[in-house]
Amino acid sequence: MKRSSINRYIAEASAFFSTHSFYLPPFADWTPDAWTRSGAEADDVRNCRLGWDITDFNSGHFETLGLTLFTLRNGSVSANGASKPYAEKIMFVRENQVTPFHYHVRKTEDIINRGGKRAGRLAVQLYGRTKDGEFADGPVSVSCDGIKRQVEPGQTIILGPGESITMTPYLYHMFYAVDGDALIGEVSSRNDDDTDNYFKEPLPRYPEITEDEAPLRVLCNEYPKL
Ligand SMILES: [Fe+2]
Repeated sequence: MKRSSINRYIAEASAFFSTHSFYLPPFADWTPDAWTRSGAEADDVRNCRLGWDITDFNSGHFETLGLTLFTLRNGSVSANGASKPYAEKIMFVRENQVTPFHYHVRKTEDIINRGGKRAGRLAVQLYGRTKDGEFADGPVSVSCDGIKRQVEPGQTIILGPGESITMTPYLYHMFYAVDGDALIGEVSSRNDDDTDNYFKEPLPRYPEITEDEAPLRVLCNEYPKL
């Protein structure tokens, strides 16, 4: 992805979150200079990979295959039991913008439509996983807002405002927004995007970046480079 695109997508996401009265913590607005000046007091933010996360899964087609996330809280993977066991993200899912099929081995996550009536809905397609990592052809047991239900393999569930679904380990899921851009929350166990995303079609979780202009913000996977 071009750095100029990432700068623009972050600005657009900030505006989208504001429109829906969802407020980010102060470090969301820190510049690269502010990060460089910061000391050990901000180590939790860096170690737990909080903050901006823009990806097109290196597809080159962000508008149709990509995602904008901001990690609000998380535990440190390396600190193990000494850190938070939970994580929270807010996501800006554009209409028809796909996050491709993947599952997690350790993380259980609730995906929640945090938007109101003027925001889009989230379409979530589900499959079980065979021992070989393929789509299972049996029905899928899933919990939506605490209510258990069984869906057909490959069935799509639509989440309206306030609705959520729980992704348990090894459950294949993909999602995209319909009827407009969607404000989506994620509440989960500790999040490790380096090792706990298993994509059906192998894809990098983070994009390669072409530096065509100066970065306005630092992405969550760039703190070690500062
Ligand atoms: Fe997921």
